Amino acid sequence: MTLTHPDVTLLAHNYVRPEVQDAADYVGDSLELARLATRTETPVLVVAGVDFMAETAAILNPDRIVLHPEPCSSCAMALRLTPADVLAARAAHPDAAVVAYVNSSAAVKAVAEICCTSANAVQVVNSLDEDEVVFVPDRNLAAYVAARTEKTVYPVPAIGCCPVHQALTASEIRAARAAHPGAEVMVHPETTPAVQAEADFIGSTSAMIRRAGSTPATTVIVGTELGLIPRLEREAPGKRFVPASPYLVCPDMKMITLDLVEAAIARNAPAVTVPEPVASCARAALERMLALPVE
Ligand code: 13P
Ligand code: SF4
Repeated sequence: MTLTHPDVTLLAHNYVRPEVQDAADYVGDSLELARLATRTETPVLVVAGVDFMAETAAILNPDRIVLHPEPCSSCAMALRLTPADVLAARAAHPDAAVVAYVNSSAAVKAVAEICCTSANAVQVVNSLDEDEVVFVPDRNLAAYVAARTEKTVYPVPAIGCCPVHQALTASEIRAARAAHPGAEVMVHPETTPAVQAEADFIGSTSAMIRRAGSTPATTVIVGTELGLIPRLEREAPGKRFVPASPYLVCPDMKMITLDLVEAAIARNAPAVTVPEPVASCARAALERMLALPVE
């Protein structure tokens, strides 16, 4: 069921409630949503996801109306970092380029050279001439990148992480494996290095969906936010998807209800606005990322 409206495109993240995903025109990971925001043409975009996703769509589409159905829905990791933190890191590492994970505010993106998502972080870092990188704000994704590139990576802030993925433990993965012999373990790169070391596959939410379709395993242990599981069940019918932990719930993603989406479309509000010069500077960092070839 899509909320068909000729002037509106509804973009939904893989973690939002299943009924919102069902109503959406497109469902995807952060990179796909950012790309779709530039490729669709309706005058109005509704973003069902946390605030940085709606903000990213608004930055990339200054002439369109971008609605975020619940402005309180924000990313707890993004809230932990200010532009002043980035500027201090720049002063400490003057030869480094700043790479901002899209899970950051517009003001943080505005002081970065380039953005990345979990789907393209290694490609983005490898695209830089600089040998040193200040990577904000996820230390776990920073460690994932550092292990797969030749660059020196400085994670900022030192304690930056997603509280949802940080809560997943290596012992939970081992217990799930013991309970489901032969299962494949997939985790998001926002999980800790210790959890990633236990996994068979590490990828963005959409990379996990693709892997679920291609893996020969019939049972998959899923180490990411639980909203992905109904999507995996739809995309890979016949396979069994088991949560790696019952605690993998992002409350902010669940704030986006179908009622709020419908109300936003009916009222044409709340709209996201990003002031200048932040919008232009953040757009440069996002467009530099989007200009890289699709891998
Ligand atoms: P993806 O880009 O993999 O969809 O992840 C976004 C996110 O918020 C993960 O917690
Ligand atoms: Fe942010 Fe974590 Fe929620 Fe993703 S799951 S939106 S990184 S708090």
